[in-house]
Amino acid sequence: MSSKITIIGAGSVGSTIAYTLSGEDIASEIVMIDINKEKVEGEVMDIEQGTCFRDPVSIVAGEYEDAKDSDIVIITSGIARKPGQTRIELTQTNVNILKQITPEIVKAAPKALYIIVSNPVDIMTYVFTKISGLPENQIIGSGTILDSARLRCGLSEHFKVAQRNIHAYVFGEHGDTSFIPWSAARIAGVNVDDYYEMMPGFEKLDKEAMLTYVQKSGGKIIANKGATFYAVTRGVCKLCSILMAASESVSTVSSMMHGEYGIEDVCLSTLALVGPKGIHSKIPMTLTDEEVEKLKISAEALKAVIAQIEL
Ligand code: LAC
Repeated sequence: MSSKITIIGAGSVGSTIAYTLSGEDIASEIVMIDINKEKVEGEVMDIEQGTCFRDPVSIVAGEYEDAKDSDIVIITSGIARKPGQTRIELTQTNVNILKQITPEIVKAAPKALYIIVSNPVDIMTYVFTKISGLPENQIIGSGTILDSARLRCGLSEHFKVAQRNIHAYVFGEHGDTSFIPWSAARIAGVNVDDYYEMMPGFEKLDKEAMLTYVQKSGGKIIANKGATFYAVTRGVCKLCSILMAASESVSTVSSMMHGEYGIEDVCLSTLALVGPKGIHSKIPMTLTDEEVEKLKISAEALKAVIAQIEL
């Protein structure tokens, strides 16, 4: 696939994304941009010197103007959480960084599809949407694509079935107000509750514990190893392949709400059709009244943060 992908931020997430893309048939040209020129040149050298073992891919350390004609721009810049920190505590610092980046990258690549990864990702997606002036379909927050992956991992371990046979999602904030619409969780097309009833030998699923596992995995990994970057990279690279595909795929990504479930003017994750034009549409999946209420609680929590930031 010949596509040009620019990654802003050569930290652990941005560099792991660049490295992973360099080994997959998604990008033929990768540009890495970072304010720390030594770091970005080192990351590019280290990745580039392994590319002789696969199909040709160009990877360079560049400036904003080198992002010209990018098909996809991935924004990972910002400070990362330290052990015990919440994503929300990063907000104003990372918003300020985003405010510096946005005019530069949008000028260089106004037609690119933008994947926002920096945390708190729902707030960053909202801010980018507001200040970039780009059509909203071009702006995709990684949102709960990672949380939904963590949920599938947890359900796969619980029910001893391959993750590819599990369709379950996490909605709302990529954070502590996320929730799992269990009414839509399926294993081999069977609702999780029915699957437990019909397939003997499993412990009853503790749904609250599963949500805690999903919500707290990021913090635990950071406490254990200092940062998270592998699983989020897999999610972002999957998004890149979806954006470069010929047709849409379903994913839980963060995007601006316009009245869906009675929610507007905030970015959070629900089911979306994503493809070559970015966000193609939202899938208005039916939720129970309780699930709609949880989504609204998540939206209000994010709006409370938005109310405090200086755009
Ligand atoms: C995590 C980061 C990507 O949850 O927010 O691992």
